[in-house]
Parts: sequence; C-alpha cells; structure tokens
Amino acid sequence: MSTHLPWHAKEATVGEVAERAGVATSALRYYEREGLIRSRRTSGNQRRYSRDTLRRVAFIRASQRLGMPLAAIREALALLPEGRTPTREDWAKVSECWREDLDQRIKLMTQLRDHLTECIGCGCLSLDHCTLANPFDTLGEQGPGPRSLAGCDSTDGCC
Ligand code: FES
Repeated sequence: MSTHLPWHAKEATVGEVAERAGVATSALRYYEREGLIRSRRTSGNQRRYSRDTLRRVAFIRASQRLGMPLAAIREALALLPEGRTPTREDWAKVSECWREDLDQRIKLMTQLRDHLTECIGCGCLSLDHCTLANPFDTLGEQGPGPRSLAGCDSTDGCC
C-alpha cells in the first residue's frame, strides 16, 4: 500500500520520507547517524522528519551522484546558517565549488580507462607497473619504502 506523504503534512515517518525521496529507510537512518539529517522522536521512540528533510535528502543524493564523500556533503550542509535546508542558490554555489574536483576525477577516470586494456586478463595488480593498482605511480612520488600499507592519513573519513 502506498504511503504518500500529504503535501500539507508537517512531519513524516521514516517510511514516508523514504518512499517520497526514493531511498531506503536504512539510508535515512545512516544519513541521520552521519549528522546529515535530523529527526525528532515521538513518545513511542519513532522518528519524525520535518518536510524540509526531503530537500536535504535530494541535496545529499545529488552530491553522492557527483561522487562527493559524506564528509564533504556534511561540510557543505554545515555552512548553511542555523542548519537550514539548502536552497536552489545554495546548490548552485556548492555544485560550482565541486566542479573542479569533479573535473579532476573525470580526468583521472578517463586516464585509468585508457590504461585498462593492459590490466584485462592480467590480475597482477603490481605496484611497479599496474595503472589500476598504483595510478601514475603516485605511491612512488611519495618516496621510497612501503606506502600502500602505511595507512591512510586522510581526514575525510574514508578509512
Ligand atoms: S592488473 Fe596487471 S597491469 Fe594491471
């Protein structure tokens, strides 16, 4: 049975938001755990989301389609005054800021694709000469010694 969110409803259940936004309820709970959306709890400990959650979820999904990590999305949302919902102008500004990052990733993926043929049927994943295992010898540029096992010092929460 459909659980359409009435357009005038001030709050919605997790199921209603999930259906309207086209995401799984588990994704909503995950976004909430990650601090990207908020809900209030009823006396029965059920989540209730305000209507603007739909727009926040649309913002998050669009950002994810661009390949942006959750940390970057959280950062962009945190810049909005008093945690307000992103407006059309906000999205235009944020997506423009991300354009350069997107261009860089497209360039890298194109280069990786162009070198993929040497990997097909190979399976070596050699750090010396496999472009997929060590794109453009980025590990070598970091100096001698074991790099891939040295751990990630990223601050974007990737690991
Ligand atoms: S898997 Fe062998 S060169 Fe990439």
